[in-house]
Amino acid sequence: MTAPPMPAFPDEFLWGVATSAFQIEGATKEDGRGDSVWDTFARIPGKIRDGANADVACDHYHRYAEDVALLASLGAGAYRFSISWPRIQPTGRGPANKEGLAFYDRLVDLLLENGIQPFANLFHWDLPQALEDSGGWLSRDTADRFAYYAGLVGSALGDRVAMWSTLNEPFEVMALGYGTGEHAPGRELLLGAFPAGHHLLLAHGLATQALRTRTSAPVGLINSYSPSWPLSSSAPDVFAAAVHDVLQNRLFTDAVLLGAYPEETRALPGVDLAVVLEGDLSTISTPLDFLGVNYYAPAGISAAGGGDPRPFGIAPVPGYLTTAFDWTVAPEGLSETLTTLHSRYGEALPPLYVTENGAAYADVVASDGSVDDAVRVAYLDGHVRAVSSALAAGVDVRGYFVWSLLDNFEWAEGYSKRFGLVHVDFDSQNRVPKTSFGWYRDLITRK
Ligand code: NOJ
Repeated sequence: MTAPPMPAFPDEFLWGVATSAFQIEGATKEDGRGDSVWDTFARIPGKIRDGANADVACDHYHRYAEDVALLASLGAGAYRFSISWPRIQPTGRGPANKEGLAFYDRLVDLLLENGIQPFANLFHWDLPQALEDSGGWLSRDTADRFAYYAGLVGSALGDRVAMWSTLNEPFEVMALGYGTGEHAPGRELLLGAFPAGHHLLLAHGLATQALRTRTSAPVGLINSYSPSWPLSSSAPDVFAAAVHDVLQNRLFTDAVLLGAYPEETRALPGVDLAVVLEGDLSTISTPLDFLGVNYYAPAGISAAGGGDPRPFGIAPVPGYLTTAFDWTVAPEGLSETLTTLHSRYGEALPPLYVTENGAAYADVVASDGSVDDAVRVAYLDGHVRAVSSALAAGVDVRGYFVWSLLDNFEWAEGYSKRFGLVHVDFDSQNRVPKTSFGWYRDLITRK
């Protein structure tokens, strides 16, 4: 049975792809770049699969022109990339490192020459190690450092970057970086990680204000969302799903859009609200021009087992296909996310962009070098249709970005999880567009 035709999207709908600095750039010791927490974390045995690091990654720092050519042949309207804080300020303090800034200068100019809107994100997890050494996101001072850094980048690129975001997925930084320790810097504070989350949000608010004095381009925040689906109708599972929803889907959004943390936050054991000082929430809720939505999968939630200190367990939802990450493939979770944001926040909700969506699969390179990732095409096709359903339901969604242009360094999973529209051979750095690349190009360029 052939699928019904893909519905039409508004003419001005923005189609793009997303990457992040640490995951693709490599060149970690060049042109004055300092260490980030992820450089340090990757040196600790057992933290990253196969002992991988991102010293070379996709070598994008040297191959950016080839990668922009790929974006141009894709027909991308926008390219979302991140700026490496330790390239701009090797220790997180002090003046801008000119050579570091020059890389993004070249990248932005080349994107513009190719008619691709540069969408710059200021923080995609690579905190300068020197700032972690003085407390990292647990320290309030890091928020001020970030605002200063945002000002440096805004002054240099504010005349050319088309869209700005401050942070990518602050929830994951708090939860995985400071809560469970699966990510850098590897702290295991569980809900005691809340101060990191609060300081991230404060950093977002201060950086938004710093950017606004340097650019008239739209400024937003990128959050991750994952609908909380209880794995049974038992009261403990339903309660655990409600806790997950507060943490994953509301904590960072309520603060930014409503200027208050959810009431339920007070009841969460270990959350120390004493770090929230007077005036913080009004800084945090500085109006946004857009909200970025990263969506991959719904979360199957159950109450954590006896003795488990975590507030809930997460597992794939039975009855669905899963990706190579064991994430549930459920496009309806994306429509649910978008329509829930619309109904939950109403007038307080700015326009939305799906700033990440994609899937890891065990791609196979055929003997002729081609990569037929039909399963990724099916994933993307379903999720683009889910965006269309949300539009039809009246949600103001303005664009969609596939994660990712290239296979890249997938954090604790190293190079073992491939998300790219373009296959990367990490030995030769050879790039081969997959079937999904052609599928996306045809979608973007159809008349
Ligand atoms: C979200 C993160 O922003 C990105 O860095 C990561 O690679 C993808 N999810 C896939 O896990």
